[in-house]
Amino acid sequence: MSKEGTVGYNKKSVADIDVKGKKVLLRCDFNVPVDKETGKIRDEGRIIAALPTINYLLEHGAAVIACSHFGRPKGEFKPEFSLAPVAESLSKHLGKPVKMAKDVVGEDATRLAAELKPGEIMLLENTRFHAEEEKNDPEFAKKLASMADIFVSDAFGSVHRAHASTEGVSHYLPAVSGFLLKKELDHIGGAISSPKRPLVAILGGAKVSDKLGVISNLLKISDAIIIGGGMAYTFFKAEGGKIGKSLCEDNEFESVLKCKEEAVERGVKLLLPVDSIAGPEFSNDVDPITVDSNAIPDDMMAMDIGPRAIVDFTSEIANAGTIVWNGPMGVFEFSKFAEGTKAVANAVANSNAISIIGGGDSAAAVRKFGVEDKITHISTGGGASLEFMEGKVLPGIACLLDA
Ligand code: 3PG
Repeated sequence: MSKEGTVGYNKKSVADIDVKGKKVLLRCDFNVPVDKETGKIRDEGRIIAALPTINYLLEHGAAVIACSHFGRPKGEFKPEFSLAPVAESLSKHLGKPVKMAKDVVGEDATRLAAELKPGEIMLLENTRFHAEEEKNDPEFAKKLASMADIFVSDAFGSVHRAHASTEGVSHYLPAVSGFLLKKELDHIGGAISSPKRPLVAILGGAKVSDKLGVISNLLKISDAIIIGGGMAYTFFKAEGGKIGKSLCEDNEFESVLKCKEEAVERGVKLLLPVDSIAGPEFSNDVDPITVDSNAIPDDMMAMDIGPRAIVDFTSEIANAGTIVWNGPMGVFEFSKFAEGTKAVANAVANSNAISIIGGGDSAAAVRKFGVEDKITHISTGGGASLEFMEGKVLPGIACLLDA
């Protein structure tokens, strides 16, 4: 730990090494959302985010062997998890062909890799077509590494995984970060290790159990923590409040009460939504009511923060020097329960603070409400950005060469 609650990294990047004439195994996170019916990529964000490193490598005379996982095929070759659509999208963005291998470390991949020339790029098939990937099997990692001279990791979204293509290969090749990974480390690392104060953390989403680690770490470094979304109601019920049919994890009462105590001890302001917008069922086709969050009728469930909570949260956000946000305030996919998330997105966008957004849902929210251009940094990592903010050592970063 470099400071309480933070892990400092100072790693070599691709700009610190000579890549000319080298074969580079480039781990990207091409785990992109696809339309289940058409198989089309719904959001190319992670592909676009990988372009600066790829272009740099190609322009500096490297041959790029890109690889990634995609979904969870559980160690079997499943055509619906093929990276072929990614190769197509990548080729469109790069304006040059991307040779798609039929396998990961098999005959086709190794032949294509051996024939690859400087300035050319190929993509291996989904690394998770081999069960050895998630087991971080050394033999599999060695086979992957044997195709290249250098390993460049740009897969920020996967650095919390100690898998063969994220960590294992670093035992066989000199390993450095790409520009995306470096940018993520600079932004998120900077926000939590030397924040402009006050540091305001906004946490939302359905399950408090998913966020206890990050709350516990943010309590050490934040000035205020705002809690919204389904996870807030475990706090209210733990204190004897009536929450109706709202989301709740009864087995976490002790943990949330401990968070509240620790906040008091550390002088961290912990804000919960004093009121909520509730409906009788999980649907947009209902008549919502506004209620106090600790007095929700038995037949109602909270699905958004209420107007008084919006005032509390947005005033806190307006004074922030740094904001980290992970998780929506309510079911913003439903128009009747979107106001809370929208108000928070606007408040974050309109503040003068450095703003960092992690997690697919909050990133989707700022895009939906048209304020993404006003956010300092939208992370490409969901689980990875959370674990980073939890202060955990991330294996896919720890394995890279120190600067
Ligand atoms: C993500 O989408 O968060 C990353 O690609 C990691 O995916 P995983 O949770 O399947 O490892």
